[in-house]
Amino acid sequence: MAKDVIIACDFPSAVDTLNFLDRFPSGEKPFVKIGMELFYSSGPEIVRELKRRGHKIFLDLKLHDIPNTVRKTMQVVTKLDIDMTNVHAAGTIEMMRAALEGLTRDDGTRPLLIAVTQLTSTSEERMQKELLIGASINDTIVHYAKNAHEAGLDGVVCSPLEAGMVKNACGAAFQTVTPGIRFADSAADDQVRITTPARAREIGSDYIVVGRPITAADDPVAAWRRCRKDFLNL
Ligand code: C5P
Repeated sequence: MAKDVIIACDFPSAVDTLNFLDRFPSGEKPFVKIGMELFYSSGPEIVRELKRRGHKIFLDLKLHDIPNTVRKTMQVVTKLDIDMTNVHAAGTIEMMRAALEGLTRDDGTRPLLIAVTQLTSTSEERMQKELLIGASINDTIVHYAKNAHEAGLDGVVCSPLEAGMVKNACGAAFQTVTPGIRFADSAADDQVRITTPARAREIGSDYIVVGRPITAADDPVAAWRRCRKDFLNL
């Protein structure tokens, strides 16, 4: 299984993103995450440009709509030749199956498809009071992960601290993509449930998504290399 560090390119524009990536030596091409902010500002062209430059791409669009709309959207997304994308598990098993169908190309290949279970910004209290979900947040995370597994998805986005729980429920091959990563000596920012790259490896993360510890570092290339070294045990 390919483990890697994914840099969250949370920049407002294509120019900012390309300026940031230009700091990396031409032989080193980090796996990058393009989120909604950058995709809505810069559109498919930034995805094509980063592919041309040789980056692997996680297109973090978190789709959640009726199955037919999600299927058709994924038919468009898959033409961008990205490596990973996602949907909300809350959209139901039928919606996740439709996403998989849409992503699958004529030759049978497709990007990895992972599901968002519960956003880490959702507290158990709000989930129970506002969404009227009576279960514990951990039970919903495991339940949504099992639904994603049943739908044929490749894994889920979750906190690294939940990765073990998800693997126990869905098997070791079911992938966990985990944000909330900090070096022991870096600021937590607004993240609460955090862990280090080395600990994320020990718990069983397959991919770690790292933003500010790399993008806001004085030397982002050194920070990315340190992250890979710790996570991949190089
Ligand atoms: O800067 P930082 O390392 O906190 O960035 C983490 C990235 O992972 C951001 O792009 C954030 O939106 C994303 N993310 C997260 N928590 C989730 C899902 C995605 O932090 N549950």
